[in-house]
Amino acid sequence: MEGKLLKQLSQSISTLRLEHSLGTRDLAVKLGNRYGLDKERVVMAALLHDCARELGNDRLTEFALQEGLVVGEAEKEMPVFLHGPVGAVIARKEYGVTDLKVLRAITLHTTGAQKMGLLDKVLFVADKVEPGRKYSGVEELRELAFNNLDKCLLFCLDRSVRHSLEKGVILHPEICEARNGALRDIIKIRP
Ligand SMILES: [Fe+2]
Ligand SMILES: [Fe+2]
Repeated sequence: MEGKLLKQLSQSISTLRLEHSLGTRDLAVKLGNRYGLDKERVVMAALLHDCARELGNDRLTEFALQEGLVVGEAEKEMPVFLHGPVGAVIARKEYGVTDLKVLRAITLHTTGAQKMGLLDKVLFVADKVEPGRKYSGVEELRELAFNNLDKCLLFCLDRSVRHSLEKGVILHPEICEARNGALRDIIKIRP
């Protein structure tokens, strides 16, 4: 299963992206073990999470509209936000993935969501702190992922928010929702 998927994937994304996807898979599998997730699910979600990342802006938008996906203001301005939801459609249609949890994790890996399941969190975090990621503080975040997944998720989301602010680009509203959701999970004020 994994071999076939990898072969198909390697024919449709660049070597660099494939390396990132493999790094994400390796870390996600370790985190999946730690938190008791089904390995096959984790592998599928991690390998395919960026299968639409290399589509251009026009293609992403066109694809999303064709598939009836939500294209809000933020997505119109920055179509790259669509590579999660579009990737989930490609995973379903071109890779035959039917598992809804896997498709959801792929959908949410860019912005997160107010309520995230364990697989969603593991994929989100693994994508941001896989061994190929190099930025100051990444090792600490990687370690934290094993000790406190919710805190690691919060810090990764904080980082995404900060990144948008520093770059002066659109901040996706779902990232704010996700960040507040992660914070509520930690301080347990979720209603
Ligand atoms: Fe991505
Ligand atoms: Fe990624």
